[in-house]
Amino acid sequence: MRVLSGIQPTGMAHIGNYYGAIVNWVREQEEGESFYCVVDLHALTIEVDPKELQKGTLETFATLIACGIDPNKSTLFVQSHVAAHPMLGWIMECTASMGELNRMTQFKDKGRGSESVKAGLFTYPALMAADILAYQADRVPVGEDQKQHLELARDLANRFNRLYGETFKVPEPQIPAVGARVMDLTDPTKKMSKSSKVMNSKIYITDSDKEIQKKISRAVTDTYEGVAYDPENRLGVANLLEIFSAITHERPEIIAEKYSAYGPLKKDIGEALVAQIGPIRDRFNELLDDKAELFALMQKGASRASEVAEETSRSARRAMGLVVI
Ligand code: TYM
Repeated sequence: MRVLSGIQPTGMAHIGNYYGAIVNWVREQEEGESFYCVVDLHALTIEVDPKELQKGTLETFATLIACGIDPNKSTLFVQSHVAAHPMLGWIMECTASMGELNRMTQFKDKGRGSESVKAGLFTYPALMAADILAYQADRVPVGEDQKQHLELARDLANRFNRLYGETFKVPEPQIPAVGARVMDLTDPTKKMSKSSKVMNSKIYITDSDKEIQKKISRAVTDTYEGVAYDPENRLGVANLLEIFSAITHERPEIIAEKYSAYGPLKKDIGEALVAQIGPIRDRFNELLDDKAELFALMQKGASRASEVAEETSRSARRAMGLVVI
C-alpha cells in the first residue's frame, strides 16, 4: 500500500492543513509505504519572492517533521529535488485537455480570467497528477478542497493506461470525516487559507499559546441562544465544534450538548489546541536550529523518492514511444 501527499511551502502551515491533511499523513506512515512532498514547483505558479520561497521550503519541511512525519518511516522530500516530477508533469499536460483544466474551480478562483495569470497556474493540476502517479500511490490523504484535482489525476491515469497500456495505479482520495474543511475563524463562509491577510482568521502551527487562545476567543460565532451543532445556519460555532471534534474524536453534536454558552466552549477549545499545537511549535523551533540536519534529511528523501519516481517515469516514456536509454 503506497500513500502520497503534498503541501505548498507558500507560508506557515495552519490548523486547516494539520487537521485536514497532516494528521492523516502521520497515521498513514504506520500502515504502508508513504511519500510526503513539499511541493515547491507548485509555489512558482503565483508571484515568487525567492527569499520567502527558500525560507518557506525549509520551514514547511521542518513543520512536517515537527507534526510527526518520521523521515525514517516515510520518504519526506522536496518536489524540485526529483527531476521525474516536471518530466511526468509535461507528460500529464499532454494527456489532459484544455477543457478539463478549464473546469478546475481552484484555477477559476485564483486566476479569474486575468491575462497576466501564469500559464503554470492553469496547468498546475497536471503537475499534481504527476506527483501522485509517479509513486503509484494507492491513497492520497488530502482536505476536501483537493477533491477535484484528485478526480482529474484519476481520469488522467485511466486515459493514459487506455491509450498507451497499463502504466499508472489509479489513486483514491482519502478525505477525513472531520477536519476536511476547516473554516476561516473571522469569516466562516470561507475556508481557512494561507493566503488570507487577516491575522485572526487562522491559527498557525507556530502560534504562541497566548495567540492560540486569543484567536479562538475572537472567533466569529452568532447571537443564537445556547450552543448547538448546526452547520447550515450557525457556521462559526459549527467550525469551532468541528475543530474540537478533530482534537478529541468526539462527535461535534455530542460536544455541543455539554455547553450552554460560547465562553466556556471557546476556553476549552483554546486549551485543547494549546495542548496539541504547543509541543509541535516547540519541536519546530528546535528543528530550525539545525539547518544542516534538515538539508541532510532532504538529501536522503530526494534519493529514495528519485529511485521510485524515475522508474515510473521510464515506464511512462517507454509506453508513449519516447526512446529511453
Ligand atoms: P495546500 O498546500 O493548499 O494544502 C495542503 C493540505 O492541506 C489541506 N488543507 C485544508 N484542509 C482542511 N481545511 C482547510 N482549510 C485546508 N486548507 C488546506 C489541503 O487539502 C491539502 O491536503 N495542490 C495541493 C498540494 C499538492 C498535492 C500534490 C496534494 C501538490 N501535489 C499531490 C496531494 C497530492 C495544495 O495546494 O495543498
